[in-house]
Amino acid sequence: MSFVPASWPRQLRSQEWYGGTAKDNIYYRSWMKNQGLPADLFDGRPVIGICNTWSNLTPCNAHLRDLAERVKHGIYEAGGLPVEFPVFSTGESSLRPTAMMFRNLAAMDVEEALRGNPVDGVVLMAGCDKTTPALMMGAASVDLPAIVVSGGPMLNGWFRGERVGSGTALWQMSEAVKAGTMTEADFLDAEAAMSRSPGSCNTMGTASTMASMAEALGMALSGNAAIPAVDARRRMIAQVTGRRIVQMVKDDLKPSDVLTRQAFENAIRVNGAIGGSTNAVIHLLALAGRVGAQLTLDDWDELGRDIPTIVNLMPSGKYLMEEFFYAGGLPVVIRALGEAGHLHREALTVSGGPIWDEVKEVRNWNEDVIRPLDKALTSHGGIVVLRGNLAPRGAVLKPSAASPHLMVHRGRAVVFEDIDDYKARIADESLEIDETCVMVLKNCGPRGYPGMAEVGNMGLPPKVLRKGITDMVRISDARMSGTAYGTVVLHAAPEAARGGPLAIVRTGDFIELDVPNRRLHLDISDMELNARLESWSPNVERPSGGWAQLYHDHVEGAEAGADMDFLKGSRGKAVGRHSH
Ligand code: FES
Repeated sequence: MSFVPASWPRQLRSQEWYGGTAKDNIYYRSWMKNQGLPADLFDGRPVIGICNTWSNLTPCNAHLRDLAERVKHGIYEAGGLPVEFPVFSTGESSLRPTAMMFRNLAAMDVEEALRGNPVDGVVLMAGCDKTTPALMMGAASVDLPAIVVSGGPMLNGWFRGERVGSGTALWQMSEAVKAGTMTEADFLDAEAAMSRSPGSCNTMGTASTMASMAEALGMALSGNAAIPAVDARRRMIAQVTGRRIVQMVKDDLKPSDVLTRQAFENAIRVNGAIGGSTNAVIHLLALAGRVGAQLTLDDWDELGRDIPTIVNLMPSGKYLMEEFFYAGGLPVVIRALGEAGHLHREALTVSGGPIWDEVKEVRNWNEDVIRPLDKALTSHGGIVVLRGNLAPRGAVLKPSAASPHLMVHRGRAVVFEDIDDYKARIADESLEIDETCVMVLKNCGPRGYPGMAEVGNMGLPPKVLRKGITDMVRISDARMSGTAYGTVVLHAAPEAARGGPLAIVRTGDFIELDVPNRRLHLDISDMELNARLESWSPNVERPSGGWAQLYHDHVEGAEAGADMDFLKGSRGKAVGRHSH
């Protein structure tokens, strides 16, 4: 990848506001000066936006205002003018119906805030799951120089001598309570142990995955993903990121220079090696759509198929992000992939150079946390893309989180029409279900839920759990938390709410899952399938008004990244007209 820095100095877009002596220029500067900014800060130096997803309602990002101060230091040091601004913070833990319903709204917020304001480049401050893709998507659609700095993961949780992984422990303990192997009092005791410091989930859940994707794509400085939120080095990288963005503006190094097909291929392979979240599939497809990089669902299977999962973190493995950082973090993984021929070494990063230069000398400090390739957790990591008459546009499964004995399975379907139906009946002792059955959940896709909630890893029926069974085949058009696990087929497309074949599955049908052959089959005749599809009618109500209606009408399927059809592509950074 060759990148030729632009010549410097040159006039920046912020000067369309602040340069000159016309009435409008005085107007813009005068208002900014009410913050006590000296006149020489408007002399043509880069104005750097700090796009912050800080919010008390997004606990994972609650420390980002503090961290932004370090970014500001760095920007000032390098001769830029920092301007911090808030955008919609999509907090995974609280936002209903699901944070995913607002990823595209947040991306739109970022995009328009950048385009409409006098900024020349931006530092994207993200942490919790959707905040990272939302910020990258918005910035990509404007294509101003942009760099990600993550909030970093929480410290390890510990409870009675055991590691407590964000999310993962919650699912495990909740199942244990249902199975009668853990008391409710102990579960309550564990609550405070799960989240013991600022930061995002400490497992290789979606937040850690997306921070890793940002780094693997080249959108963040090397080492950014794993530094714990409270480690002093998190503040250091924030400050260095502030310095770096100023130079990126001078060089005019933009997302479209970094987010190439090569970068996405690298990220997909890294996702396989880290045992990353299935949510990355959707977010990277959406991000690629913003920059016009050709990327399809099938690329995930083809590129990730031979990638061993070497990062031994929950939910696929045993450790947490703190240990990943101590072992050397993502640069060690990228180096291992590069040495094995699984990396485009020349892919450009925000450093201004090839990714290989960033990682070629790093060392692995703990080979149990980051395994050598020949001692991998799973030899074929990555994301499996399944197809068949039940998901003609694809469905995904994460083998490293699934049970080997269920990879080829034929079972009787037990169908739940939607999440409420599931909740109402799953604990019913008279429900005809055992561990050989296939649980099917409908109407939880982008349009069905709406927002495509993380409910695909449906908890097992208590009567099955009590037998000591911990996994069953589950199929839905939903997503699954990156901290979850199980033989869970997700993102079945087209979704049930759009009349995909999932909509016509009935309890008692037989379903075949064949992961080695990438097949997901509903065992009924084509004639029967077509007859059922013809008699299907939509049963999901169109929301009346607001974002929910816009989302319902324009969201694309999971196979396309669930972006809005009208937000795809880049609309550029052109400065709009204004006169006072
Ligand atoms: Fe925010 Fe997991 S809930 S990172």
